[in-house]
Amino acid sequence: MKIIEVKDYQQMSKKAAEYIIDKVTMLPSIKLGLATGGTPIGTYKNLITDHQKNGTSYQKVTTFNLDEYVGLSSEDKNSYSYYMKDQLFNHIDIKQANTHIPNGEAADFQIECNKYEQLMTEHGGIDLQILGIGSNGHIGFNEPGTSFASKTHTVNLAPSTINANARYFNRLEEVPTKAITMGISTIMQSKEILLLISGESKRDALFNLMNGPVNESSPASVLKNHPNVTIIADEAAVSLIRMESSMEND
Ligand code: GLP
Repeated sequence: MKIIEVKDYQQMSKKAAEYIIDKVTMLPSIKLGLATGGTPIGTYKNLITDHQKNGTSYQKVTTFNLDEYVGLSSEDKNSYSYYMKDQLFNHIDIKQANTHIPNGEAADFQIECNKYEQLMTEHGGIDLQILGIGSNGHIGFNEPGTSFASKTHTVNLAPSTINANARYFNRLEEVPTKAITMGISTIMQSKEILLLISGESKRDALFNLMNGPVNESSPASVLKNHPNVTIIADEAAVSLIRMESSMEND
């Protein structure tokens, strides 16, 4: 894993956007895996600014999102489908038909999960997957304990994830308790991964990822087994790693 350290959230967002823009320019028909949450919002803003100023085109790009809440319609402001349109898709020239997000209102979730996997395979797999990380080390909505062999599946969200995401809802009771997510093995199949980590609340997660063992109690640890992972992390997120290494050097 390659780690790029940057000063703060703004720098992380700028660097991540530059990274993605380079890839889209080199491969206009790139298949991007996209993440939601607070972390990539700044990156998406930079992509929009670049699209408006420099004309980077997404007409041939196909996207697959990591996850979606179960029970929220795509019109619900808290759905990841709404988020993606609001934060990115409505502001660039991507074709809506080329954007894919698991359906949180599917009649049969097993069929929906299989369909989603099949669709990614038909498109030749994901070239670049953007990832955030939960404070408990989750990736996508793969909570601690998820099998490394998992494909797209439905999950019960951990209480810590429900609490962390409650900030977007009016009341804790409104936060969905289930989600549909790409599995760990789905994520690992992407050719390249870009992991974005910002802020003090993620410093334990980054520390465990860098220093802890690779096992299913820490979903992100699996990334150590991937041949092409780049992490862009800001000073607040790397602070614990730096503290440890300076203590080791004393
Ligand atoms: C959410 C999402 C993840 C995201 C993570 C961190 O629950 N399902 O894809 O990476 O948690 O979110 P944030 O960036 O808001 O800290």
